[in-house]
Amino acid sequence: QLVTTAAQLRAESARLLQAKGGSSQGLVPTMGALHEGHAELARTAVEQNDVVVVSIFVNPLQFGEAVDLERYPRTLEADLALLDAVGVDLVFAPDVDEVYPGGEPRVRISAGPMAGKWEGASRPGHFDGALTVVAKLLHYGTPGAALGAELPAYRAYFGQKDAQQLTLVQRMVADLNFSVEIVPVPIVRSPDGLALSSRNRFLSAEEREAALVLSRALRLVEERANAHLPLDLDSARALIESQPLVELDYFDVVDPGTLEPLAENCRETPFRGEGLVLVAAKVGPIRLIDNVPLDS
Ligand code: PAJ
Repeated sequence: QLVTTAAQLRAESARLLQAKGGSSQGLVPTMGALHEGHAELARTAVEQNDVVVVSIFVNPLQFGEAVDLERYPRTLEADLALLDAVGVDLVFAPDVDEVYPGGEPRVRISAGPMAGKWEGASRPGHFDGALTVVAKLLHYGTPGAALGAELPAYRAYFGQKDAQQLTLVQRMVADLNFSVEIVPVPIVRSPDGLALSSRNRFLSAEEREAALVLSRALRLVEERANAHLPLDLDSARALIESQPLVELDYFDVVDPGTLEPLAENCRETPFRGEGLVLVAAKVGPIRLIDNVPLDS
């Protein structure tokens, strides 16, 4: 069922929760152009909750250049079919005026110091815009409680594909006391290793092939970590740089909680512990990101 206003969403989700005698509601925020990665988030939410809402909203606040916003793929009919097959109860697809009546909001979430590096370094203001809309979406998706009933559980689902976004959402929810549990969902990849992304559709066949070095380089580091070897990031970087169609932006290993680079000795001595390897690169004109968690 498709709803386009916050009032409809509130009414319909309350009605469904009551009709099902449900005690939990899940929210999956997306920008549409859905693929199997989004489907996995929705499937996990359906498994874990009585009522599931997927939001589809291309958020102007998190785009730097107007052309990127205009070019963002919009495939509502196909998205609805995919979500129907997964068993999602409600799709919330508001227009810009519903979310930002009176234009851009004057008060916004400041994503703070963790937003200035990695993806934030090349996309100024991106994470402030993303967290601002996530805060609003988390409020829109809050389940209502029937009189006398216990407050329903509330969970929201984010992919590890956007690792920095996930960490920032977790920090926002903790730092600002949102009453929602954030559930991370592992990256969904195509069989050859490429992380699924709405942007992959813009890659030529040759670029798509070249893009495979990103996941290969990550796997190289993951294998070294699992074998308790020094991580040797330089040889992974060299693998990426050997591919002429790929222009590397960053490849580094960070603390998953703070996104600060791990100390030098973690890279040059046998690796034990936790880390997160982040990569971003341009493949042809398309910027891609990927990552792999380390835990050994
Ligand atoms: P979007 O890019 O549509 O992604 C929606 C969710 O799907 C995000 O949590 C993202 O991490 C997850 N996702 C995308 N590709 C994935 C993959 N291959 N495997 C697992 N999860 C994947 O991220 C956004 O939209 C926006 O910033 C949003 C949070 C909706 C705020 O506007």
